[in-house]
Amino acid sequence: MRNFKAFIQAIIGLFIISMSARCYGQVELDAAPMKKAERDALYSTIQGFVGDWWNGSDLYPDPCGWTPIQGVSCDMFNGFWYVTVLNIGPIHENSLSCGRILEFRPHLFELKHLKAISFFKCFESQQRHQVTIGNANWEKLAGSLESLEFRSNTGLIGKIPSSFGVLKNLQSLVLLENGLTGEIPPDIGNLNTLKRLVLAGNYFTGHIPDIFSALVELLILDLSRNSLSGTLPLTLGRLTSLLKLDVSHNNLQGNLLKEFAYLKNLTLMDLRNNRFSGGLTLSIQEMYSLEELVLSNNAIGGDIRSIKWQNLHNLVILDLSNMELAGEIPESVLELKRLRFLGLSDNNLTGKLSPKLSTLPCLSALYVSGNNLAGELKFSMEFYGKMGTRFGAWNNPSLCYPVEVMSTSHLPFGVKPCQEEIKLQESNTIFYGDVNKTFHSISIIPSSGFMSHASYGFCWTFLFIMVLLNSYVDL
Ligand SMILES: *[C@@H]1O[C@H](CO)[C@@H](O)[C@H](O)[C@H]1NC(C)=O
Ligand SMILES: *[C@@H]1O[C@H](CO)[C@@H](O)[C@H](O)[C@H]1NC(C)=O
Ligand SMILES: *[C@@H]1O[C@H](CO)[C@@H](O)[C@H](O)[C@H]1NC(C)=O
Ligand SMILES: *[C@@H]1O[C@H](CO)[C@@H](O)[C@H](O)[C@H]1NC(C)=O
Repeated sequence: MRNFKAFIQAIIGLFIISMSARCYGQVELDAAPMKKAERDALYSTIQGFVGDWWNGSDLYPDPCGWTPIQGVSCDMFNGFWYVTVLNIGPIHENSLSCGRILEFRPHLFELKHLKAISFFKCFESQQRHQVTIGNANWEKLAGSLESLEFRSNTGLIGKIPSSFGVLKNLQSLVLLENGLTGEIPPDIGNLNTLKRLVLAGNYFTGHIPDIFSALVELLILDLSRNSLSGTLPLTLGRLTSLLKLDVSHNNLQGNLLKEFAYLKNLTLMDLRNNRFSGGLTLSIQEMYSLEELVLSNNAIGGDIRSIKWQNLHNLVILDLSNMELAGEIPESVLELKRLRFLGLSDNNLTGKLSPKLSTLPCLSALYVSGNNLAGELKFSMEFYGKMGTRFGAWNNPSLCYPVEVMSTSHLPFGVKPCQEEIKLQESNTIFYGDVNKTFHSISIIPSSGFMSHASYGFCWTFLFIMVLLNSYVDL
């Protein structure tokens, strides 16, 4: 659409020039309406990243017109072309690829209508020619810049310039998988139109600054895969529009926040691989929109039954593995009809594993290994067949499967047969009780089995849409 608009504008522009050429005689037709200063600034900026051999005026005499540069977009302001988008790096086959020795030339900041800059796999050289992002000049782009992205630039090192805080129109700041270090500058908190802040996959250290009170439009906050420490800042609770919160794979500690209860639109919360503690906060059960909740690998502790899981009826992924949780697996989990992944491994869960879990229509992975679950597994053969290796119950010393109802093809891996226990209990009435229950669960299976097949299609469709939406948000 924008291209088309630009095209029309180009036609109109040329028309005007040729008209004026006709009236006044002298105007050169090859001089597209782009100021020389703008064009030279563009050439020099690109040359800084691509290399001195790159001669823009030779290769692309009319960069916003008939010799477009891959990755560069322009728009017309007051009858002249200006560069609005600059993408450097191998995104398309014929994209500008970066040289070995690169520099940010000051000319970059003379492109005063620049809305979006992105660098992808550009600063890659190790050791000798690493580049830092300078602190100077960013204020010159404050009026125009809406999106700033550095992705997969392993040779981009140093700190985030505090001067990024002047970019008051910025909606997207993505510094993903670079070699950046240091602390997150509190100046980021000035960017009150920010919708996406992604600082994942760098080497950031220090605390997460408590800067979120003005970032009320933020939709995506991803600080994962760094070395951040300290506790979660309380102003996270101000991010009432937030859809995605990912601080996984850091060294964060302290309690989960009561303020989570304000994040009513949050669909993804990923806190895995940190050092959080202090038990499950009740505010989790108020994040009604959650679709993915991943808290695994934190010694959070507490009783799994303390949360009203049935409130989180949108949950698709629930991962509570390796959290030092105690208690029995609560029946409320059975109300999560969209649940596809349930991870409860490596806790201290006790009691039985309810065969009703097999009635969850979407469930395609269930891991309860490494707990203290006991008694007989009472799932149907059909369930084991459907789940295959995505059912894990090993390392529960008191758990067993009933020999008589199992065919040898679908034995639950790492679970022992119940034989010995049955022999021990044979003289006991408990044995007959178990038989009655076994019969009961078998008689239920045909009808529920049919239902789960019918709703399976729905679940996959739903999932597919979710994945699509998710990747759309990621873009
Ligand atoms: C690019 O080429 C032109 C014409 O060949 C030449 O005048 C100009 O000095 C060159 N510019 C650079 C930066 O090499
Ligand atoms: C939450 O989402 C709903 C529906 O998309 C939207 O109408 C509402 O404004 C959002 N709330 C906030 C605080 O952004
Ligand atoms: C697991 O729970 C049992 C019974 O509640 C308790 O005796 C045991 O100490 C717990 N183990 C761990 C590692 O917390
Ligand atoms: C099991 O079922 C049998 C026959 O239906 C009945 O006599 C017996 O009392 C039941 N046992 C238990 C523990 O419910």
